[in-house]
Amino acid sequence: MQLKNSETQFGVVAIFFHWLMAVLLIAMLALGLYMVRLPVSIEKLKLYGWHKEYGMVVLVLAVLRSIWRVSNLVPELALPWWEVIAARAVHYAFYGFMFALPITGWLITSASGLPVSFFGLFVVPDIISSHPDLIHLFKKIHKWLGYGLIAAIVLHVGAALKHHFIDKDDILRRMFADGSKKFW
Ligand code: HEM
Repeated sequence: MQLKNSETQFGVVAIFFHWLMAVLLIAMLALGLYMVRLPVSIEKLKLYGWHKEYGMVVLVLAVLRSIWRVSNLVPELALPWWEVIAARAVHYAFYGFMFALPITGWLITSASGLPVSFFGLFVVPDIISSHPDLIHLFKKIHKWLGYGLIAAIVLHVGAALKHHFIDKDDILRRMFADGSKKFW
């Protein structure tokens, strides 16, 4: 199994980034939706802290993943043109969400004057100065980006399952370490 992508197969690094980001993004969505509905408590504050820290991890990984993607081949999608356009549009949307969600989250905490402590190691500098009148706007944008990400995940997972179970092709299989083997 190779590290880099080929014209037909994803390499180990791209596969690792894909599944790590999938787990982190879904966990961040679930945590975000859960924590905002809790009554004010120590528990809520603790979960906000985790959400902010892991959200910054997503941002760092998004940068590394983007560098890896532009310095690599992207395996071809042997599909009708409209499916290629739809799939690529959703893939680019994911890259947008991977940056826009953490950055709008970072804007909320900066505008609120509540900076992010990165796992107790250091305090992440604010990107704007404290702006109480902008907090509501950034929260709204962050929330709607979260809903947009859920819609993109539903489309993406739905398409992957359709290819696997209805079209019976290798599109989903190649996102696993040895996509050539028909192990399932
Ligand atoms: C990929 C990363 C992220 C995802 C998927 C995500 C997702 C979400 C979601 C779904 C909510 C609930 C919105 C609602 O229903 O009102 C939320 C809330 C929140 N997020 Fe994030 N978030 C991410 C990153 C971040 C980062 C990096 C920060 C801060 C540095 C952050 C700060 C916040 C805050 C403060 C709230 C609470 C807003 C409120 O109290 O209304 N998020 N997030």
